[in-house]
Amino acid sequence: MTDYQALFALRGRKAVVTGAAGLIGREIVAALAQAGAHVVAADVDADRGKALEQVFSGGGQVVFRRLDVTDLDALKQNIAGLSAELGGIDIWVNSAYPRTADWNAAVEDITVDSWRKNVDMQLNSYALSSKYAAESMKGRGGAVVNLASIYGVVGPSLSIYDGTGVKPFSMIYAAVKGGIVNLTRYMAAYFGGHKVRVNAVCPGGVFDRHDQSFTDNYGSRCPLGRMAHPEEVAAAVLFLASDASSYVTGEVLMVDGGWTAV
Ligand SMILES: NC(=O)c1ccc[n+]([C@@H]2O[C@H](COP(=O)([O-])OP(=O)(O)OC[C@H]3O[C@@H](n4cnc5c(N)ncnc54)[C@H](O)[C@@H]3O)[C@@H](O)[C@H]2O)c1
Repeated sequence: MTDYQALFALRGRKAVVTGAAGLIGREIVAALAQAGAHVVAADVDADRGKALEQVFSGGGQVVFRRLDVTDLDALKQNIAGLSAELGGIDIWVNSAYPRTADWNAAVEDITVDSWRKNVDMQLNSYALSSKYAAESMKGRGGAVVNLASIYGVVGPSLSIYDGTGVKPFSMIYAAVKGGIVNLTRYMAAYFGGHKVRVNAVCPGGVFDRHDQSFTDNYGSRCPLGRMAHPEEVAAAVLFLASDASSYVTGEVLMVDGGWTAV
């Protein structure tokens, strides 16, 4: 009989999570580490990264490494360095969220400079990280998971933001996340023959101490009636990183409480 628990187990696997110190990233680190993986928690924020390392104090199973995914010229070498350190990367998760201070400007206020910088920081960093990570897995096999968003597949529901103090997501975010969704599909096609699976997760809004007026509006638009919890996103990443999803690639997995189903 198939051992289904073993399919989710990651013992002996080497994983890298970018944006590991973030709201979703740290839950992904927890999920992969609990499944038995050795996890490199990669982030630009050394203080929060090292604090995360301390949470998993047993046996160096989670180690922090400073990685700036927006340093595109150094990315190939940096990923090769991590691969050499780990003896090969089995799982790469892109969950970093680099952005400029004005990344969420209103449509009318978006400058050419800001548009270029955010596409470079948010989309190109994911594209090149995925590409170099997948190349490093050629032959041995592996799994790449990209964090996209509901706003990579549908437009924003602008009315839920009215009167809440929460700003709607930028037009740039739609271009970035839509780009990540389809580059995931391209990469799945290209790397499938190399035993590398490439998938995306599209979370809905994740609760982060939002105001009640916003969570009420959000819940009224969403079939499950609430925002997501970070661990619900991490569980989907665990599935896509493990052998439980061995025949899943090019998938864009909605973790959105049904937001895009209606
Ligand atoms: N939070 C949500 O509601 C939500 C919803 C849908 C999709 N997402 C996506 O999930 C991913 C993670 O989001 P989050 O909410 O955890 O964000 P977050 O801001 O909480 O965390 C992002 C992390 O990325 C790190 N980071 C920033 N710049 C970096 C760089 N140059 N190199 C490496 N690390 C860098 C930050 O230090 C931080 O620890 C993003 O792709 C985001 O678009 C989030």
